[in-house]
Amino acid sequence: MAEGLCLDVEGSMQQNPPRVDLRPWFVTLDELSGQVAWSSIFPNPGPIEIDVGCGRGLFLYNESVQNPERNYLGIEIDYREGRRTATRLKKRAAENARVWGGDARDALARVVSPGSVSVVHVYFPDPWWKRKHRRRRIFTKDFVDLVARVLEPGGILSSATDVAEYFETMAGLMNHDPRFEPLPISEYSEPRHDMDYMTSFERKARQRGETISRGRWKLIGCEERT
Ligand SMILES: C[S@@+](CC[C@H](N)C(=O)[O-])C[C@H]1O[C@@H](n2cnc3c(N)ncnc32)[C@H](O)[C@@H]1O
Repeated sequence: MAEGLCLDVEGSMQQNPPRVDLRPWFVTLDELSGQVAWSSIFPNPGPIEIDVGCGRGLFLYNESVQNPERNYLGIEIDYREGRRTATRLKKRAAENARVWGGDARDALARVVSPGSVSVVHVYFPDPWWKRKHRRRRIFTKDFVDLVARVLEPGGILSSATDVAEYFETMAGLMNHDPRFEPLPISEYSEPRHDMDYMTSFERKARQRGETISRGRWKLIGCEERT
């Protein structure tokens, strides 16, 4: 089928709306070769925070408004979600928030410079409930190695989930890793409105009355990084 054409539900040809160019708010990892210099992405030289699996981008949006001196990068494997987030950032002409489309593990291994990130956030990672699918979970020992690689000394890995059993795995990995030390969890206030949650999945979980497990760990030492 010719590019730009699609069949609608009744089978007649429809013209697809042209895809809006969201650059620089949304770029795919395929467009990035080698390690990037943050100065080529963010005009302000402030600390970098990465939101792994940013989804609809509530965290990215709110944090980048509240902390204009810091820079926020969402990495989202689902381009549709990533583009949706980027559209909101573009509307606001946000200079301190961007989205990369692709696998966060690829980004952390190949594109992000070692020791260059202040905080990595991983909120409500896909639980992959079925036992046979668990190996698809992102929060593994290899992932922790990637995070340790990109964090600067004293950098923080922050995570939350409503899946208690997944959190046990995360905490087990982190609390036994000599490169990290656990940090106390900050108090969370009651949201004042629908957008006053940390993330969209946090909103769903809190509205269902589910218990949320949270963890924060600080990088205290690292092996030689390449
Ligand atoms: C359950 S949602 C949570 C979204 C958001 N963090 C929140 O709390 O609302 C998990 C998100 O992670 C994304 N994701 C899963 N694996 C990923 C990966 N390897 N790299 C980047 N994003 C990923 C999914 O597409 C999805 O948007």
